[in-house]
Amino acid sequence: MTALIDKFSRQVRYVRISVTDRCDFRCVYCMSEEMTFLPRAQVLSLEELHQVARAFSELGVEKIRLTGGEPLVRKGIDDLVAGIGALPGLKDFSMTTNGAGLRKHAEALHRGGMTRLNVSLDSLNGERFRQLTRTGDLNKVIDGIHAAQDAGFEKIKLNAVILRGRNDDEVLDLVDFARDEHLDISFIEEMPLGDVSDHSRGETFYSSDDVQKEIESRYALMPSTETTAGPSRYFRMADSASRIGFISPHSHNFCSTCNRVRVTVEGRLLLCLGNEHSVDLRGTLRRYPGDLTPLKEQIVAAMDLKPERHHFTTDGDVQVVRFMNMTGG
Ligand code: GTP
Ligand code: 5AD
Ligand code: SF4
Repeated sequence: MTALIDKFSRQVRYVRISVTDRCDFRCVYCMSEEMTFLPRAQVLSLEELHQVARAFSELGVEKIRLTGGEPLVRKGIDDLVAGIGALPGLKDFSMTTNGAGLRKHAEALHRGGMTRLNVSLDSLNGERFRQLTRTGDLNKVIDGIHAAQDAGFEKIKLNAVILRGRNDDEVLDLVDFARDEHLDISFIEEMPLGDVSDHSRGETFYSSDDVQKEIESRYALMPSTETTAGPSRYFRMADSASRIGFISPHSHNFCSTCNRVRVTVEGRLLLCLGNEHSVDLRGTLRRYPGDLTPLKEQIVAAMDLKPERHHFTTDGDVQVVRFMNMTGG
């Protein structure tokens, strides 16, 4: 089988597929308050999304994550999950969600073969949660997490983007919530994608090292060699099964071990989150319906375009015009 290897000898084994650009939240670091979404014809159909997943799996990809926007607002998501979950060779099938739709969908996702969920949660204070997400309801998200546990998901990870002056005082509360609920948690440094207009990113940057210091004021953290094959560096606490992860694109660049590419909901294969290098898979899918060979050839050839690294800075400048909801992070 042809492996997906780039010019820097990195093998791509992880694909993030965005299934919608829409979302029922408007998180301040991800979107502008007023967003226009893509017209339907530009968006990959469920069948096309399945074909993309199949092509990657036939090229040796073992880890597929569905993202958005919010994947659970995509009509037919349960069927798509069942279809991708049935692909042979998949070892890790997951979704990144805002959690609000989990009460409705968790059982179907679990039945469809999904193994892990990452749920975004930046605050445990209802009012503040509303400010950060602009439209989100904290209780619904917490209820969604419980629904996922009831449905049988054993591996649920929280994602918290920490912003100076907005939620940096909640680090320990979030860790304690994760411990109490038997969840893992990753703390993420904000990235400068899209002009979100709510705040100047130069002012809100909060480094993972500061988050780590705060946690170590209460718990000793032991580095862990475990990996999810994602960007998190993991730590463990002595008296808890919860893992703490740090995703630090600014302070601890992880590009040299990058193993992933993204597919936007328009069918653009994006070779790096922090760059614009991409190829159009949608055109190929529509030109050769039902024939995966040209699609796979195009994906293999695209590996040569994968750039060495992103060049994000923390000074607040937008380096990539595209908003995060186009790629699901
Ligand atoms: P796991 O499979 O649990 O390791 O998940 P993950 O961290 O790969 O995925 P998730 O969707 O939970 O993403 C968490 C954060 O990591 C988001 O803010 C993503 O934008 C960020 N992230 C994931 N991959 C990359 C990457 O290649 N580069 C950068 N800069 N950020 C990334
Ligand atoms: N910087 C860092 N993380 C972000 N996310 C969304 N926008 C940003 C950003 N600008 C996170 C979400 C979600 C994950 C997929 O990406 O919180 O958990
Ligand atoms: Fe929606 Fe996720 Fe973006 Fe928040 S981070 S607005 S939940 S797509």
